[in-house]
Amino acid sequence: MSHHRCFVALELPADTRRTIVRVQESLRSAFPDLRYTDEANLHLTLKFLGEISAEGRAEVALQLETVEFSPFSIELAEAGSFPPRIVWIAIRGADPLQQRIDRALAPLFEPEQRFMGHVTIARTKRITASFQEALGRREVPPTRAAVTSFSLQESHLGSSGPRYETIARFVPAES
Ligand code: 2AM
Repeated sequence: MSHHRCFVALELPADTRRTIVRVQESLRSAFPDLRYTDEANLHLTLKFLGEISAEGRAEVALQLETVEFSPFSIELAEAGSFPPRIVWIAIRGADPLQQRIDRALAPLFEPEQRFMGHVTIARTKRITASFQEALGRREVPPTRAAVTSFSLQESHLGSSGPRYETIARFVPAES
């Protein structure tokens, strides 16, 4: 049976991704050895689903259709890390949508115990103290973005990094 590595995502508008790239660039000069996320791949994961079957993927898409939401906005917040590998910028404002998605998928997946909205900006093998200190001093420019959809994504892993494919997109119901 074929398996598909899937996740539910908030995609970020181009100007928000540009702002994040500027933060990446300011880190890159001092820490060139990290693997910085490609601009096109910058996103927030609302729920990671892991490897699921084609039938499971179709079922998830059906359940996600039931998620009701209105357009809202998110904001970039501080930069930080989940040692030993993940470097992120926090995103505020996505929790209510994340909880609705958890509820819609509850028959199929465990709800998140501790969701922390973030966009992964780099990965490394080991986060050093000097890197953590530099990260803490990084200013993330105040940035707000409108959210008008979320999506089901499939991740195709390759030697030059993941490629994300949009399987389905979900928008607010027309009122
Ligand atoms: P990351 O970028 O913070 O690593 C596709 O792989 C997306 O799913 C990425 O955004 C990744 O988050 C997330 N992801 C991968 N494995 C995960 C896991 N075990 N738990 C939660 N999210 C995961």
